[in-house]
Amino acid sequence: MRAAISLLMLLLSMGGAQTRGLQTESQSTGAPPAAAPVGVPALDVSAELKELRDMVVELRVMLRYAQDDVKGLEAKNVALKERLMRSEMKAEALEMANAAQDAELAAVKTILAAVETREENLNKVVKEAPKVAFSAGLADSIEAEYGDLNVVFREVITNVGQAYSSTTGFFTAPFRGVYYFRFTVMDCEESGSMLIEMHKNGKQLIWLEDEVTAGDYTYLSSGLTLQLEKGDEVNMVLSAGHRIVGFFNESTFSGFLLFPF
Ligand SMILES: *[C@@H]1O[C@H](CO)[C@@H](O)[C@H](O)[C@H]1NC(C)=O
Repeated sequence: MRAAISLLMLLLSMGGAQTRGLQTESQSTGAPPAAAPVGVPALDVSAELKELRDMVVELRVMLRYAQDDVKGLEAKNVALKERLMRSEMKAEALEMANAAQDAELAAVKTILAAVETREENLNKVVKEAPKVAFSAGLADSIEAEYGDLNVVFREVITNVGQAYSSTTGFFTAPFRGVYYFRFTVMDCEESGSMLIEMHKNGKQLIWLEDEVTAGDYTYLSSGLTLQLEKGDEVNMVLSAGHRIVGFFNESTFSGFLLFPF
């Protein structure tokens, strides 16, 4: 707007200079100011004025445009300021979200560390947990010809913890705990009865019998959960006068720790 005003001033002052110039010229000829000098066209004041008025109208229009431009720029400025504010708000929100995410990540890391520690502890517990489990099969058929016979299952299939002895046939509890024992024995060779016992520390716990027909496979099988002290012994005994068969691990003795107690 200021530029338009100064332009208007400039044009007005130029118009004045032109009029003065003409006056000076007419004075120098010495002719009276009212009469037009010879050879110089008479100054058409009304035409000049009209031209000036037109110019003013034109300048007003220009001024209006300039004002509109300024208004447009102001509106743009407001819009830009709003956008800037919105961007700043967005940035703030993002920062807050970032901080929240960082906090969440830290929490997850803490939980993960706790889980890892727990897993390590569990692994240690599992690793250090006592392990006792055995299975052994009878290597040959045996007969208790001269009284009760301690059965030695010589074919060791599993013996974790070495609590079972394949030379004595005895299981010896390595520590106080609850254990499970089971057996299967077979006879088929001669008709008569088959009789097997499970002993703990020399005392009979199971006494199991069945009738055998020669050529007919007969099995005896049972199991017990036992609470044992360290050093307690468990073994199988074949009653006097009886036999069991052992070629293909038909007769087996197994035991394992359920839990220390
Ligand atoms: C009986 O078990 C022993 C020990 O695992 C094994 O070497 C043998 O082959 C088994 N016998 C039969 C007939 O499966």
